[in-house]
Amino acid sequence: MSGPRAPKGTYDLLPDEAAQRDRMVATAAHVFAAYGYRHVVTPEFEETSLFERGVGEATDIVRKEMYTFTDKGGRSLTLRPEGTAPICRLYIEHGLHKWPQPVKLWYYCPMFRYERPQAGRYREHYQLGAEAIGSAAPEVDAEVIAMLAQLFAELGVGGLRLAVNSMGDAACRPAYVGRLRDYLRGREAELCGDCRERLELNPLRTFDCKVETCRAVLDEAPRIGDHLCPDCRAHFDTVLDLLRRVGLDPQLDFRLVRGLDYYTRTTFEFSSDLLGAQSGVGGGGRYDGLIEQLGGPPTPGVGFGSGVERIALAMGAREVPAAAPVAFLVAFAAERRGDTFALAHELRRGGLAVELDLAARSVKGQLRQAARCGAAYAVLLGLAELPADMVRVKTLAGGGEEDVPAAGLAAWLAAHPPKGDA
Ligand code: HAM
Repeated sequence: MSGPRAPKGTYDLLPDEAAQRDRMVATAAHVFAAYGYRHVVTPEFEETSLFERGVGEATDIVRKEMYTFTDKGGRSLTLRPEGTAPICRLYIEHGLHKWPQPVKLWYYCPMFRYERPQAGRYREHYQLGAEAIGSAAPEVDAEVIAMLAQLFAELGVGGLRLAVNSMGDAACRPAYVGRLRDYLRGREAELCGDCRERLELNPLRTFDCKVETCRAVLDEAPRIGDHLCPDCRAHFDTVLDLLRRVGLDPQLDFRLVRGLDYYTRTTFEFSSDLLGAQSGVGGGGRYDGLIEQLGGPPTPGVGFGSGVERIALAMGAREVPAAAPVAFLVAFAAERRGDTFALAHELRRGGLAVELDLAARSVKGQLRQAARCGAAYAVLLGLAELPADMVRVKTLAGGGEEDVPAAGLAAWLAAHPPKGDA
């Protein structure tokens, strides 16, 4: 059948999948609250310049992956490809530097990147992310990493590995980048075309390259870890120590420059060996220059983003019981359909999940439907042998029945929760 389809690289969530997603987000909200993070929401699109300035013109995201369009007013807008630049914009725009620092915020929203779709890689994906802005202390780096580890633990994400690196800062990085560039120029002939371009724009980006020959060249390249200034070294050592203190096992990875230009000092990434090529289940780092670069006061920050589709894959398939109604109301006489409708409304207003016939079914059809939808009880209205204000409650699983005044049905259902409902 050829009908409309969701765009390439996007997906739908059917009710069971959406229920699993809701639970993941609820768990995250709970974990993040324990660490003092508060939920914020930013627009789905921003001015394009925010990402050009924030994420970096040399990154794949800005060069190749943004969904950018001109609106009817002639403004260049871009669907959010990542969450950090918008949160920094929000921090600056609303004067959050006046709040007690660090300001700790979390978000859950879709990101749009024109990438080649494959398992675990989408053109619209959702991230759970957190940012702590306004403190340069290494405890904050360790806190966001530990918080993400805690979320993964609560969700049952398996096969995890934590890679970390330090990118240095304005004091030590420029000299290192110069050294790296000189080294790469000496071996330019062995680099792919992309890396030759990266070499001029931002040589650190060459560490992202997957081409074998480039990787071989980079294996022998000078490493930032050997060229950190004393402050960056001490910061990194403290972060590593704190992570070990909370039972994590950070592995040094000199390649971990990550795909965005704003990082300074700590970068980190969790990967899961339950995933295929797209194994990065969440990552982030420190970005002490970003707020200033976007026009705000000099302000340090650190955070992460984690793709919920990949979290779900690394959690494995979990049965989410479909939410069954407590009761299905059956109108035994056609003239009682109005009463049935009104009673269902009243019960629902009281917070009880009830269903009724919405397809003009016969009594037999309604009873069949009551069983099929998984209701614990069928409530029969309009039985000839009962007074008009009484209903009969039949227990569908296990049998048994009881006659109850319609006005007392809500109280009866509340007092008899379905078995298995703790
Ligand atoms: P990122 O590494 O680009 O970082 O994305 C974060 C996470 O989003 C990845 O680890 C991965 O789980 C997921 N992800 C990324 N792209 C896709 C995709 N195309 N399909 C499915 N999942 C994907 C950032 O975006 C930074 N803003 C993170 C950050 C926050 N750094 C500091 N604060």
